[in-house]
Amino acid sequence: MNTLSFLILSFFSLCFSISFSHAVVVLVLNLFTATPQNHHSTIVNAAHRSIIRVNHFYKNSLASTPESTVIPNTGSDIVWLQCEPCKQCYNQTTPKFNPSKSSSYINIPCSSILCHSVRSTSCNDQIFCEYTINYGDDSHSQGDLSVETLTLDSTTGSPVSFPKTVIGCGNNNTGRLEVQGSGIVGLGGGPVSLITQLGSSIGGEFSYCLVPLDNKESNTTSKLSFGDAAVVSGDNVVSTPIIKKDPSVYYVLTLEAFSVGNKRVEFGGSSEDGDEGNIIIDSGTTLMVLPADVYKNLESAVVDLVKLKRVDDPYKLFGLCYSATLDEYDFPLITAHFKGADVELHSISTFTQALDGLVCLAFLPGGAIFGNLAQQNLLVGCDLQQGTVSFKPTDCTKV
Ligand SMILES: *[C@@H]1O[C@H](CO)[C@@H](O)[C@H](O)[C@H]1NC(C)=O
Ligand SMILES: *[C@@H]1O[C@H](CO)[C@@H](O)[C@H](O)[C@H]1NC(C)=O
Ligand SMILES: *[C@@H]1O[C@H](CO)[C@@H](O)[C@H](O)[C@H]1NC(C)=O
Repeated sequence: MNTLSFLILSFFSLCFSISFSHAVVVLVLNLFTATPQNHHSTIVNAAHRSIIRVNHFYKNSLASTPESTVIPNTGSDIVWLQCEPCKQCYNQTTPKFNPSKSSSYINIPCSSILCHSVRSTSCNDQIFCEYTINYGDDSHSQGDLSVETLTLDSTTGSPVSFPKTVIGCGNNNTGRLEVQGSGIVGLGGGPVSLITQLGSSIGGEFSYCLVPLDNKESNTTSKLSFGDAAVVSGDNVVSTPIIKKDPSVYYVLTLEAFSVGNKRVEFGGSSEDGDEGNIIIDSGTTLMVLPADVYKNLESAVVDLVKLKRVDDPYKLFGLCYSATLDEYDFPLITAHFKGADVELHSISTFTQALDGLVCLAFLPGGAIFGNLAQQNLLVGCDLQQGTVSFKPTDCTKV
């Protein structure tokens, strides 16, 4: 097996670099889109996106239990980047990918089976296959479905190439990626996600370590690794099974309960209840999203412990806010009890400085998503052959 390690370039949590033929581009991991603006608006925007994304996940699923059902988020796990010539592109600080300069770039023809196997493709009047992706937050990308050589840095020293990786070359893109991202990479389990395409060469293994969101001034970056480099081992590693559910785009886990300090808040998931597979782990949603009743119980458990003045969130996004700063008060530890894996979440993962002097519980009611704020400073490893997600407390600025 090739041993691959994949390094990140940019300042904030979810950007990393990837090489396509002649160009190195920075892609955003899934949908999370921190901006170079100040932290408040980042969090507020992120909260809005979390809400929109949750609505998207649960739309049309009213017939079944909203808390435990996921619906296809069409094409959300393809890899795409902005391409010249642009009909409509968002501003990007780095040069856009120019396929005419690459000898390994090939458009996929309409007649290809591949064109028909990827969701949301069309041929219109053209010879070449066109894809369209609409994300839950109104971002969208449209362009040519194509193949290109993908190159990853390797821990063995020499880069490893993956010829004929399916990518979307987008020339009509709108979104909230802002300037740092050239596009979006999908890490889900769908047919053309990066993980599926790298396939056996990475042994179904990848891991990521997200540096804290408020770490932007320093030069430390998040890290994404594949293959042997992605094995999460050593002390303090806990693992929980991935529950197979359709669509395969999502990684679904079983969460049994939370603890806030010593108080346990039940979440449900147990094999006796047939309630396995009740929460999505997602790098594209920022906040933690919980079923309304669980949220309510968790919120009261926090209220019981935090001896601070409760204030309203002027944006009316968060249900529980305090007049405080994150560093000046010792907010309670919240533990997520996944099946077989207790994961301790420190205050940077569960509370957010929504405004100066305003700290809010970074959870929302109305779904079941373990978002990326909660995953900061955890080495998170997915082993798709074993069918597990592992967590290890880690200072991600130091890996
Ligand atoms: C870009 O895509 C949007 C949404 O599909 C469409 O409304 C718009 O006309 C497209 N713009 C161009 C220049 O093709
Ligand atoms: C994008 O860049 C162009 C040219 O630099 C500038 O005129 C435009 O205002 C920018 N748009 C946004 C949304 O920042
Ligand atoms: C960050 O990296 C850049 C380029 O390597 C360097 O010039 C700068 O001094 C670094 N900043 C900090 C805070 O380490």
